[in-house]
Amino acid sequence: MGTNGEVSIPKRQFADVILLEYTGNLEKMSPRLKVLNVVGARPNLPKIAPLMREMQRHEAIEAILVHTGQHYDENLSDVFFRQMGIPSPHVNLEVGSGSHASQTAEILKRVEPVLLEHKPDLVLVVGDVNSTIAVSLAAAKLGIGVAHVEAGLRSYDRSMPEEINRVLTDALADYLFVTEEEAIQNLLREGRPRESIFMVGNVMIDSLRHFLSLAQQSAIGDELGLKNSASWRRFGVLTLHRPSNVDGVQKLGELLGAIDTIASELPIIFPVHPRTQQRLMQSGIHHHPQLRLISSVGYLDFLCLLSKAALVLTDSGGIQEETTALGVPCLTLRENTERPVTISEGTNQLVGTDPSKIVGAAKDILCGRAKVGKIPPLWDGRAATRIVEILLRVVPRGSINY
Ligand code: UD1
Repeated sequence: MGTNGEVSIPKRQFADVILLEYTGNLEKMSPRLKVLNVVGARPNLPKIAPLMREMQRHEAIEAILVHTGQHYDENLSDVFFRQMGIPSPHVNLEVGSGSHASQTAEILKRVEPVLLEHKPDLVLVVGDVNSTIAVSLAAAKLGIGVAHVEAGLRSYDRSMPEEINRVLTDALADYLFVTEEEAIQNLLREGRPRESIFMVGNVMIDSLRHFLSLAQQSAIGDELGLKNSASWRRFGVLTLHRPSNVDGVQKLGELLGAIDTIASELPIIFPVHPRTQQRLMQSGIHHHPQLRLISSVGYLDFLCLLSKAALVLTDSGGIQEETTALGVPCLTLRENTERPVTISEGTNQLVGTDPSKIVGAAKDILCGRAKVGKIPPLWDGRAATRIVEILLRVVPRGSINY
């Protein structure tokens, strides 16, 4: 490992890659690296955006994008493509919603002919959703190399479907790109070879840094009455969508009871995920008028709200990282996190789901006793650049026998 946390890359071994060291013209003569990139659900989109942008800058790469269709609503998918300039997918598998088994099986079935048609050198997957494991499995069975971006994160809680997806995807992947040091240790403990693990930083933070100033021009503050000319009122943001928090009416009611107490002192904006929306409609739970439920919002509006919030309460994975990058206090309403660096270095606190602990921690923050964090190593907006450089050096081209 180098002094700045980057691993040293093995010496270039392939004749076609050696040519890349010379000029752009020679780059054209070598076979292009064909990468099939995968998205499925909302959190995949800010991760794939900088990777697609970076791959499109390199003539030596042919980048294909496949959308599984796991998320299909305008606000969970299309708006992200438009706002982040992600190219339209070459293929949409349109799998839609379903149980874990049926959704995963449908993706497996529908992606195999796409892999056989496009014959990529590499399949690149991000995150930990059902699409991530399903496409990794289909690719690995065909002998196609798999790169996993955001590898090695572990909550060690198998009741989370994402934890199962993470463990299995990492067991299949040939190139493991990690966002934090502890992920390296997790992968080594699981027997993954050291030379397949690359510490590169965080692609979601690439997107955050790329879009932050544009996001802060969003009109959402005016629309929600949070902004008066240039100055913002103090407010909080809440997101809740983990099945363990929202699928049971009792737990959801307890959590919203705690949030109501906080909302009596601080207006809280709650963009509601479709899963949570369904449960709320069934439950008839009432809430404080200062807890404002709104529909899911697009990337720029949400980033704007996060960056201006006095406090964020969430059970999301990615939001723990985004608040750390923004220096905004975050209370995570879960018993564990797969992203421990947001606690050891960032602004995140794990408060669990006990209402009195949530209210106590929120009051501390509102009284000025917020945790001061720092930005983890390599969360500098250049993760996608590092990943693409590594792929160009280490992935063999044209070697798969279909
Ligand atoms: C999925 C991911 C989760 C991620 C979350 C982000 C898995 C196992 N879970 O959870 O890791 O944090 O996305 O949003 O992959 N629905 C719609 N419109 C859509 C998509 C879904 O209304 O575009 C509704 C459907 O009723 C569906 C429910 O939301 O049954 C849940 O969707 P699903 O993709 O199964 O899981 P998420 O809770 O979104």
